[in-house]
Amino acid sequence: MLRTDIAGVISRADYTPPAFLIETVRLEFDLDPDCTTVTNRMRLVRNPAGNGGDLTLHGQELQLVSLAVDGQAWPGYRVGDEGLTIVAPPDSFELTLVSRCNPLGNTSLMGLYVSGGNFFTQCEAEGFRKITYFLDRPDVMSTYTVTLRADREAYPVLLANGNLVEEGGLPDGRHYAIWEDPFKKPAYLFALVAGRLVCVEDRIVAGDGREKLLQVWVQPQDLDKTRHAMDSLIHAIRWDETRFGRVLDLDRFMIVAVSDFNMGAMENKGLNIFNTKYVLADAATATDDDFGNIEAVVGHEYFHNWTGNRVTCRDWFQLSLKEGLTVFRDQEFSADMMGTESGRAVKRIDDVRVLRQAQFPEDAGPMAHPVRPESYLEINNFYTVTVYEKGAEVVRMYQTLLGREGFRRGMDLYFERHDGQAVTCDDFRAAMADANGTDLTQFGRWYSQAGTPRVSVSAAYDEPSHTYALTLTQSCPKVGVELQDTTLVKQPFHIPFALGLIDRAGNDIPLRLMGEPAGAPAPTTRVLDLTRASQTFMFTDVPHMPMPSLLRGFSAPVIVEHDYTIDELAFQMAHDSDPFNRWEAGQRLATRQLLALVESIQLGQLPSVDSFVLEAFRLVLRDDTLDPAFRAQALTLPAETYLGEQMTETDPAAIHAARQYLRQRLAAALHTEWLAAYHNHRVPGTYQPDAASAGQRALKNLALSYLMELPDATMVQTARTQYDSADNMTDRFAALAALVHRGGAAIEADEAHGAPHAAQALADFYTRFEREPLAIDKWFALQAMQRGDGSHCVIDAVRALMQHPAFTLKNPNRARSLIFSFCSGNPSQFHAADGSGYVFWVEQVLALDALNPQVAARLARSLDRWRKYTPSLRERMRGALQQVSAHKTLSKDVREIVDKALA
Ligand code: TRP
Ligand code: ZN
Repeated sequence: MLRTDIAGVISRADYTPPAFLIETVRLEFDLDPDCTTVTNRMRLVRNPAGNGGDLTLHGQELQLVSLAVDGQAWPGYRVGDEGLTIVAPPDSFELTLVSRCNPLGNTSLMGLYVSGGNFFTQCEAEGFRKITYFLDRPDVMSTYTVTLRADREAYPVLLANGNLVEEGGLPDGRHYAIWEDPFKKPAYLFALVAGRLVCVEDRIVAGDGREKLLQVWVQPQDLDKTRHAMDSLIHAIRWDETRFGRVLDLDRFMIVAVSDFNMGAMENKGLNIFNTKYVLADAATATDDDFGNIEAVVGHEYFHNWTGNRVTCRDWFQLSLKEGLTVFRDQEFSADMMGTESGRAVKRIDDVRVLRQAQFPEDAGPMAHPVRPESYLEINNFYTVTVYEKGAEVVRMYQTLLGREGFRRGMDLYFERHDGQAVTCDDFRAAMADANGTDLTQFGRWYSQAGTPRVSVSAAYDEPSHTYALTLTQSCPKVGVELQDTTLVKQPFHIPFALGLIDRAGNDIPLRLMGEPAGAPAPTTRVLDLTRASQTFMFTDVPHMPMPSLLRGFSAPVIVEHDYTIDELAFQMAHDSDPFNRWEAGQRLATRQLLALVESIQLGQLPSVDSFVLEAFRLVLRDDTLDPAFRAQALTLPAETYLGEQMTETDPAAIHAARQYLRQRLAAALHTEWLAAYHNHRVPGTYQPDAASAGQRALKNLALSYLMELPDATMVQTARTQYDSADNMTDRFAALAALVHRGGAAIEADEAHGAPHAAQALADFYTRFEREPLAIDKWFALQAMQRGDGSHCVIDAVRALMQHPAFTLKNPNRARSLIFSFCSGNPSQFHAADGSGYVFWVEQVLALDALNPQVAARLARSLDRWRKYTPSLRERMRGALQQVSAHKTLSKDVREIVDKALA
């Protein structure tokens, strides 16, 4: 195994069962912001499957007050920085521990902390050990009874997991509540909330015929922004009943919103805690994307109730068991909620975009790891796009291979076998295989091997026999941690490769493989099982040389290499029956054009755009039979980071210039069509966030953004009018963004450049939304991601905004909105030739690390791909990484990221 020799590294191979099990836990909290007392009474029994020995409980930043075994003092114990060891304990006993912690001083937002004067907890992955001494590992599952005591005036609402069994008053203005969770759970699913909160309530009769109470808890001023979250929750409950036969098991299900939160949301049993960003929405403050994200995240956390909570992970290496599966489920939920086939395709395109922009680079860089990692220094660093998004692709491949019904059979067997257990990714794969009587041994390599496989395609058509031979060859060199393992030899993956063949008229050809009987059904899309390094598939009755439609629907997380001609791509863009591949053809066409432009720019040549490309895009824009949302996807150029990955040496300035140049050419060449799209896709009536209206707005606002690339000053006025008269955030923010990108926010420029309008609109936006933190986050983010030009460096604007009274590093949303938006959302400015972006990065990583290591480590990752850049940038990035690495007091979180980057 790898790296077991390095201090603090945890390896999957070292898993051992716990020495003890904890059957029941009774917790009592005396809540006080700077000194909370926790009394913990646990029933422990020696684990028959364990290896004996003392009992070592995890514990961090705790002050132990007292300890008793079966009610008696027990002198044999040791307390350290990481926990508490009870020496030679009985085989079965009650342990009573009293300890103290400081929620107000807790800036890491793990464990028990205070936000906006209220108490919240976050325990996944290893936060419970900051609340009390415990076996803080997911394979120790217990039933919890929780008593909360606090000042009634300051903390009128007291919530914990499960059912409320008792509440009442106490002397000195205090009160209490007792909660019981009937389901066994690991400590990472524990939660409590206490404070001044209000809720919106609904009641539904679930699939089991029982009435369930649903609540969404927020701060009083946000009560009118909860309807969409509640509707999303109800939709999610219904969807899990119909699609997977999974019913809500509790009589009460609560969502609580908090503005200080490290990630998106947390699936604590019956008491989900959410970042406000994924709960609060109304027309004035949230965009269509926000509404969509809320639906997805509410769904995600709700779906965890079965995939994660009822069946949990044996250890943290199995994280994708719950996360990959639950992301897949939320993706399918959102797709179904789109309501149309074309809507499903748009959702799929969105998901694949994220995978390619974020996961492919991760899988090619120093943090590359398998979906089930082999080792880690800090588990928080492994809540990655690989574990989540690639993990979801792995789950999707089961469904592609087994069919929807086969997949459902596998899910049913998985729950039947493992309800109430803590299990592994192998257990999930076995359920899928056994329920379908199939062998998924080779499929297991998706869990053990890192890297994005490449599949190269070559084809030959034989005219006399009307046969078409398609050869698929896969490869996946070692990446990331695999590079240090000299004995490792990568093996071929089991790749479900969905294929279509298109004839000259643009119609699908029925697909018959050589040797299949003439009467057998010949569907027009077939999933080929690519299992060997290279395989040839022979198709018969192919009337003429077809155009292959490869990897339809993106049936596997791979890179397809095939030499298309420009004509072929344009043809596929116009005719493929698979909407995903129509989009894909356009992206390939644009990518090829953009890379050619980058080269001309680097060589100082005059860039030129192929008129064929412009015409292909014109056809899509004009085609009113296509869903507007789809057209918006098809007309959005590949992102700068994606383009950077396609180059041998990433040159952010040239990429930005090339992309801007193509945008301007598309704006000019398709001017009439853009104007028509802008005017024809206004949505009448009051704002509704449904998919159809959102699609219209997406196309309209994309048109606006292209039109704003042109010198025409009247568009500035149009954008300003849209900004002023919008009745919703989607339109208002799109207009603001168009003004800012055109004019620059910080510089004085002429009227036609729109700068005064941009500055005025930005100022207006701030005063309009001063009391809406989520809108102010957008305001910071937009300015951090604005374009620069020769005289105008965005870093100066960012540094100035750091001094703004509304800025704070302590709130992760705010830090992300300004700092992360600049460091990962504005590549050409962050990678400025003078290295000013990297100087800023060093400062901010170190400043954040002192407050919140988890958030700091995320920021640290923006230099992951440093080796891929042009030599002078590369050297400056190395210097920045070394500067951070030289700090002796780094958290494990940041240490792991920078040292892996430099390794
Ligand atoms: N399990 C959560 C989810 O995916 C995410 C999560 C993990 C998290 N660790 C966290 C959220 C820490 C907030 C803080 O749904
Ligand atoms: Zn999750």
